[in-house]
Amino acid sequence: MKKVITGITTTGTITLGNYIGAIKPMLELQDESEMYMFVADLHALVTPGNAKDLRERISNASALYFACGFDSNKTTIFIQSEVPAHPQLAWILGCNTTIGELSRMTQFKDKSQAKKSSNGTETIPTGLLTYPTLMAADILLYDINIVPVGKDQKQHIELTRNIATRMNNKYGKDLFTIPEEYTTTVSAKIMDLQDPTKKMSKSSDNLKSFISLLDSPELAKKKINSAVTDSENLIKYDPENKPGVSNLITIYSSLKNMEIEEVVKHFENQNYGVLKFEVGQVVGELLADIQSKFIKLVGTKELRELLDKGKNRANEIANKKLKFIQEKIGL
Ligand code: TYM
Repeated sequence: MKKVITGITTTGTITLGNYIGAIKPMLELQDESEMYMFVADLHALVTPGNAKDLRERISNASALYFACGFDSNKTTIFIQSEVPAHPQLAWILGCNTTIGELSRMTQFKDKSQAKKSSNGTETIPTGLLTYPTLMAADILLYDINIVPVGKDQKQHIELTRNIATRMNNKYGKDLFTIPEEYTTTVSAKIMDLQDPTKKMSKSSDNLKSFISLLDSPELAKKKINSAVTDSENLIKYDPENKPGVSNLITIYSSLKNMEIEEVVKHFENQNYGVLKFEVGQVVGELLADIQSKFIKLVGTKELRELLDKGKNRANEIANKKLKFIQEKIGL
């Protein structure tokens, strides 16, 4: 049975991009794989914020995972900071990774560039640089085969493979399982609704540019109605020349489980108003369904019990693996 893991950082609320890029592919694997899904709260510390907001986002994210359809009997759902083996292994991996490798990561380059000030790197947190070694630890602790992620995380999985291969060559082939990333070709990058040349991101300042899984269905429909398209009024899938329309087609295709060509055929001779209306309908239905389950679970004792179950199982596996690694490397 293949082992599968993914995580979502709690830097904002979970978006439709996270759902289509990571959650939905995970749900599709749930019945045939050994599954792990976690709330990446340690990764969220890289982005400044206050304790109260962070705690609320962790609570919301964990309730949302269950509301999206993960089953605690099939998927081990846990909070990253409740499994101390993650940062412990991250340290070991960091000692086997170079600053050169880490500073070549596109995400680090983009985010650190944005933070660079007149006094150079003084305002860039070290965690932004070492973020990928913690991500590698998240994966390598569970002998994972498959990591469903959106396109933006591909480079981090590649680095994980490189670190694992390097350490296997040094300490023995059985040290780490080499993971593979898993991206579905079209849905791996959902675009910003206001600037469809950019990735939809939960940290965007413009609230109209992304859909949160906790937006009301009405608000989500409004956001889709005001999504930027073009003046051609021709429904065609062409991400390069028609990024806005193609993005709406992609969202529809993913949520309706239809091929892109089928979607284009479905909207043949229709105008953008119809496309936006129908995309709004499917997104609205998805959000209503998720939120009805979310409301019942968030902040409850039942949620804490489900998370304890995940925490215990994750710690059991991760601690065993960490001990094995520590012995292999001479600790
Ligand atoms: P994060 O929180 O940025 O995103 C979570 C997942 O959602 C995907 N994603 C998207 N997919 C399609 N379209 C989009 N617009 C979009 N935006 C985000 C991301 O690719 C990701 O799969 N570092 C990770 C969290 C993480 C992780 C891990 C993932 C921590 N440890 C171990 C896998 C394995 C992150 O920043 O995700």
